[in-house]
Parts: sequence; structure tokens; C-alpha cells
Amino acid sequence: MKILLLGSGGRESALAHKISQSERTEALYIAPGNGGTAAYGTNVALSPLDFDGISRFVADNAIDMIVVGNEDPLVAGIYDYFADRGGEVLVVGPSKAAAALEGSKDFAKQFMMRHGIPTAAYRSFTAETLEQGYAFLSTLQPPYVLKADGLAAGKGVLIIDELNQAREALADMLGGRFGSASATVVIEEFLSGIECSVFVITDGNGGYRLLPVAKDYKRIGEGDTGPNTGGMGAVSPVPFADEAFMAKVEQRIVRPTIDGLKADGLVYRGFIFFGLINVGGDPKVIEYNVRMGDPETEVVMPRLRSDLVDLLEAAAKGDLADVPAEIDSRAAVTVMLVSAGYPGAYAKGKAITGCLEPQSSIVYHAGTSREPDGSLVTSGGRVMAVTSYGDTITEAVATSYRAIEDIHFEGKTYRRDITRDLV
Ligand code: AMP
Ligand code: GLY
Repeated sequence: MKILLLGSGGRESALAHKISQSERTEALYIAPGNGGTAAYGTNVALSPLDFDGISRFVADNAIDMIVVGNEDPLVAGIYDYFADRGGEVLVVGPSKAAAALEGSKDFAKQFMMRHGIPTAAYRSFTAETLEQGYAFLSTLQPPYVLKADGLAAGKGVLIIDELNQAREALADMLGGRFGSASATVVIEEFLSGIECSVFVITDGNGGYRLLPVAKDYKRIGEGDTGPNTGGMGAVSPVPFADEAFMAKVEQRIVRPTIDGLKADGLVYRGFIFFGLINVGGDPKVIEYNVRMGDPETEVVMPRLRSDLVDLLEAAAKGDLADVPAEIDSRAAVTVMLVSAGYPGAYAKGKAITGCLEPQSSIVYHAGTSREPDGSLVTSGGRVMAVTSYGDTITEAVATSYRAIEDIHFEGKTYRRDITRDLV
């Protein structure tokens, strides 16, 4: 198969690495890729949102399948774009209508209500219903959770302790704080518990496979302090997501979601990411994403023993029945190296040196690029993810921390407490 993967982060590095290991892969292109992905295929200077450009590339290079890393192309309708052209190429992902599970929080909440999927109680408001929004806030206990309905680059969720500040934030959001993304605001009940990320790949016909469960570390600071980031590390498996918990997840959340998509006529042939919270042993959905997680993919892919290309193709063709998803029993942990200052302003172009292909670990590039002379430099906030296996989580994380000592760039920053809450 000739495969085109869209994206440029650590997630796409992990997908590219796994795809490149398949005997089924004849050629792999990554658009636009990063300073490390050329090790797994060919980087192509194309934007994942340039559908016409992608279509020309698909025709010129006889691409059989497009795999989409991030949500933007999916929410913008890349699945439908190619389906409408006669399906000359398989696209792994949801249709535009189904991608609204991530693209609109209000749509996702309505979907969950309709199908009896456990989630926080909520109501949605617009500028016209601001007064009702204030009244609803007064009925809730703090903290108050306010969410921009649309995509807001991961920044659209505010959790506020004080009622007056929550009222101000609501007015501010409806007044355009996140542009059109916050023209509708979802206000919901605050849920208290530990979060985890559950991933499935589905074929749109009721078939699905569970992938390894993971937990990410979102805050910049140790002890989960400071601002949110794109993710500072991840671990799989997750000790509290044991067999009993996962049985509830499948029965109450995964199955009803798969059945609900079908009942609603929403075409979905790709990854579903369930952002869950464990409330006293019961899973509830915090959010849906229509793609894999980052940095979760950097621990999920290493633990998937089965051929990813077989799974992707079967999902895109609508029949996963004969394709297994076998899981490695070892633990995997990834630690993200970021630029000093991230998630605020940070410098780029810092030379990266040291041991980037250690025996012990997998180094997935994220925000890296190559200078014209081939040397490697930083080009983003999250620079690379260092993943290791271990018989235990403790062993895996220790191996990643050792490998990190041998990687150098000015401003190298990372959390030293990844997994400490779990072991
Ligand atoms: P989201 O973009 O929906 O994933 O929200 C970002 C983060 O806000 C989540 O990962 C949670 O940590 C937190 N969050 C969102 N909704 C709630 C809620 N109802 N209760 C508690 N925390 C929440
Ligand atoms: N790690 C969370 C996300 O990918 O959205």
C-alpha cells in the first residue's frame, strides 16, 4: 500500500514509525512531517488543509490510503472531500458530520444525552440567552466549567472558582473571546476524578477494536501545576483502568457510542478518542476527539503488536471483523522534551545534539526540523517524546529519564514526575 499521513507532531512520528514497520507498506509519505519523520518515509511539503493539493499528490503518486493525524482536516471534511470524488483513495477518519463530536462540544453533549452515555450535566448558551446563562451558573456549585463550543486550539475550556468571574468569562466568551468558536458556550457540572484516554478504531459498521488505554500529563509543572500544555508525557497501561473499569467503559460508553453513530447515520471509519474521568469507579465522558491523542499515541503505538496498516485498511473499508488488535503486556512511558518558556513564548532554532537513537528507547520527533545542511534544530514548543518499555511503569520511566540525559539542546525542559501519581 502507498500511504499518505497528514501531520507533523510526535503523534504522527509514532504513527509513521508503526506504519513503516508493516510489510504491507510500499511507500509512506508524511505531509508535512518533521525533522525525524524522514527516517520512516518521505516528507512532503503540503498542508493537511490543502485538500486540492493533497488530491493532486494522491493522483500523482497513486496513494491508496490517507491517514489523518490531527482533527482540523477531519472537522473541515477531508473524508467527504474524497468520498465525493468517488472514493479513489481510502481515508481513515470520520465524515465531517461525525467529526462534529470534536468540532462542537454542544453536538457531542447532545449525542451523549440522546444515547444515554454518562457525562457531566450541562446546558448551552448563546449571546441571546446570556441572562439564562447567568441564572444557570447560580444553580451550580463551584468550580464552574465553561467550554467554547468550537475548536479553540485546546484553550477553549475555562475552570473558574468564583461565580462573578464565571459570569464575566461567560459574557466574554459569548462576546468573541475565542472568535466564532465561542459563539455558543457549554456550561457543565464539574466532575472530580482522575482522567484517562481510551482509544478505539472503528469500521463504521458496528465493528471496533480497543487500543491500549493511556493517561497523559497536561500541566507544564511537576505535581500537575501551572498552565496546560499539549501534553508533557504519557503512560500505558493505566493501573486504575483495570478490567472491571474497562468493562464499564465498553458497556456504558464505547458500545453505545458505536451504536449511536450508526443509529444517527454518522459515517465514521477511524480512531475515536474517549477522554474519560473516573468518578468513584464510574467512567464519564469529558470529551470526544476524532483522532489519536498526543502524546498518548507515543505509548499506544509501541504497545500495539498487530499490524497497524491492516487495522487502518480494514477500518477504512468498513470491516474489522478479521483483524485483531493484540496488545504488548509491557508498560510504555513517554516523556516530552519541550523548549524553555513553553507553553508561553519560546525560542526556536536551537541545535539538537547527542544520542537520538538510543538502544533503550524510541525518540519520536515533534517540534524539530532540518537545516539546509541536514543538522537538526528545535522548531516547536514540544520538541521530542522519549518512549521506553518496561516490565513495570517504574522501569519504563526510569529508562526514558536515562535516555534524556544524552539528548541536548539549549533550554531542554521536562517534567521529572511523569507516572509518579500512579506508582
Ligand atoms: P476538554 O478540552 O473538554 O478536554 O477539557 C480540557 C480539560 O478540562 C479536561 O481534560 C479536564 O481536565 C478539564 N475538564 C473538562 N470538563 C470538565 C468537567 N466537567 N469537570 C472537570 N474537569 C473538566
Ligand atoms: N493528549 C490530549 C489530546 O491529544 O488532546
